[in-house]
Amino acid sequence: MQTVILAAGQGTRMRPLTDRRPKPMLPVAGKPLVAHTAETAVAAGASRLVIVVGYESTDVRAYFGDEYAGVPVEFAEQADQRGTADAVRAGADALDDGPFAVLNGDALYDEASLTALYDRAPSVGSYRVDNPSAYGVLHTSESEGETRVTGVTEKPADPPSNRINTGAYVFPAAAHDWLDVGESERGELELTDVLERACRERDVRAVPFDRWLDVGRPWELLAANEWKLDELERRLDGQIHENAEVRGDVVVEEGAEVDAGVVVEGPALIRSGATVGPNAYVRGRTLLGADASVGHSVEVKNSVLMAGATVGHLSYVGDSVLGRDVNFGAGTTVANLRHDDEDVRVLVKGEVVSTGRRKFGVVCGDGVKTGIQTSLNAGVKLSTDARTGPAEQVVRDRSGEW
Ligand code: UTP
Repeated sequence: MQTVILAAGQGTRMRPLTDRRPKPMLPVAGKPLVAHTAETAVAAGASRLVIVVGYESTDVRAYFGDEYAGVPVEFAEQADQRGTADAVRAGADALDDGPFAVLNGDALYDEASLTALYDRAPSVGSYRVDNPSAYGVLHTSESEGETRVTGVTEKPADPPSNRINTGAYVFPAAAHDWLDVGESERGELELTDVLERACRERDVRAVPFDRWLDVGRPWELLAANEWKLDELERRLDGQIHENAEVRGDVVVEEGAEVDAGVVVEGPALIRSGATVGPNAYVRGRTLLGADASVGHSVEVKNSVLMAGATVGHLSYVGDSVLGRDVNFGAGTTVANLRHDDEDVRVLVKGEVVSTGRRKFGVVCGDGVKTGIQTSLNAGVKLSTDARTGPAEQVVRDRSGEW
């Protein structure tokens, strides 16, 4: 099945992590987010990938080249990010005139669910959630043991079902002629309008997905890493000091170094060129990117440190995302829990949003540097290249949003 992967968006809700890269290229357990999407698609039956790029597209093109996971890859450029229907239209020239699948390049899918989607076309992937009002909700009807989709409503106050639209579709060949949709209320050209047309003209099946994760906001990048790090199998190719202890499913890539007195608890991935210790504690579900450095008496837990990030001495980093080349001064401490025990909240595009997580730390854009003894409060974001002075307390968001 020819498959279009949408990867042109600006990822504004993921800022500042998307200031210098498109969201689909954010690291998830050692590869870009969209690479997981592409690999799952190929494993499920994608015979050819058309990747629609736009915002910061160079890295996406370079990563995939003209073949990936054994199937040919083509790119289509979406000049302005006018919405998902516009993105598919941009990719349409690269498709043959048969049925085609569409996947969001910023979502994780499981292979069995995508296989079912491909097998039961025309189809849309559905996922059951407790709070459907926050999503596009599918209208469905049951007949002869099949669940048919009859429409979709964005963020309804009174949801018709708890099955939401995952953004994974297989459209019939006729849908090539349905891509010219009008602007929606929010001013975008939306693929859900193409889905509505497909529902009117064909029997479209709702295929229940076992697992699905939409990666839109910074804490969802942590969730994506949790998912994929949990699938790691122990492999120690790097240099590990005889007095270090490596427990569970830990991958230490060739060229990485783990020094004396270090404890690493899996799942964790320590990429080539990264150094840990001496005397550091790396707890589960942590990704240390290429050339990252975790130094003496530092504790890191459930966090993503992108390439070149350095936490040198006496610091604590929990449930956080540190962008490329971030540098934490000695004694920088991250709070990841509120005293009132409520879920940590984060400012997203000017709006305070609950992360749904009791524990969440901080988000640092690329190049952030903290002064010694900086205290960072749970849920704050620091903008790209931000600086803090010695002993500074950051209790409010510094991503330029407030
Ligand atoms: P989103 O709705 O998540 O948009 O797109 P976005 O731009 O990535 O993120 P925000 O809303 O600004 O935070 C879902 C998928 O569709 C792609 C995105 O790259 C993402 O994979 N997309 C979206 C496009 O390719 N083109 C568009 O015009 C819009």
